[in-house]
Amino acid sequence: MTQHEDIDLKRYIRNIPDFPKPGILFYDISTLMREPDAWQIAMGRLARQIAPWEPDMLAAVESRGFLTAAPLADRLGCGMLMLRKPGKLPGATISHTYDLEYGSDTLQIQADAIKPGQRVVVMDDLLATGGTLAASVTLLQKAGAQVVGASVLVELTGLGGRAKVDAPVKTLLSYE
Ligand code: PRP
Ligand code: MG
Repeated sequence: MTQHEDIDLKRYIRNIPDFPKPGILFYDISTLMREPDAWQIAMGRLARQIAPWEPDMLAAVESRGFLTAAPLADRLGCGMLMLRKPGKLPGATISHTYDLEYGSDTLQIQADAIKPGQRVVVMDDLLATGGTLAASVTLLQKAGAQVVGASVLVELTGLGGRAKVDAPVKTLLSYE
């Protein structure tokens, strides 16, 4: 483990213009994940942010939310569950459909994933418009969760997405 616990993790996030569409600046966490020391520091910082919420479960949003939720559930000693795109989860599911700029999207959870009132923290890599995180919180609430927080690695603050999310949001790295 590096001694540089205070390193600026933004150095490891690569920006790629015009992806996935012209005019969009993509914040790529792949370059952070390639550096084991930096990734370990990022996971340590997320763990310290999330621990005070005392979650029973972490809810990982497909697909990039899986990347942080799995190591964090291991560090914090809590369970984890997946919020998936339609048709991926076996057994009975609960769905939530939400509007996008053009069209709509759906997320699903296994109907028995949460015991009523369990404390759940939602995890994703990035908060942009907030549509994905807001829908995830709504779906978890439908499934009986007490959503105590939402955790993301990167927040694009200029889009005001966190206002849509019916839970406190914590971020590691913010960009205007
Ligand atoms: C990206 C990102 C977040 C979401 C953020 O996921 O990983 O989940 O968009 O955008 P929003 O705040 O405007 O909703 P994407 O849908 O590209 O899918 P992926 O995680 O499967 O790559
Ligand atoms: Mg995603």
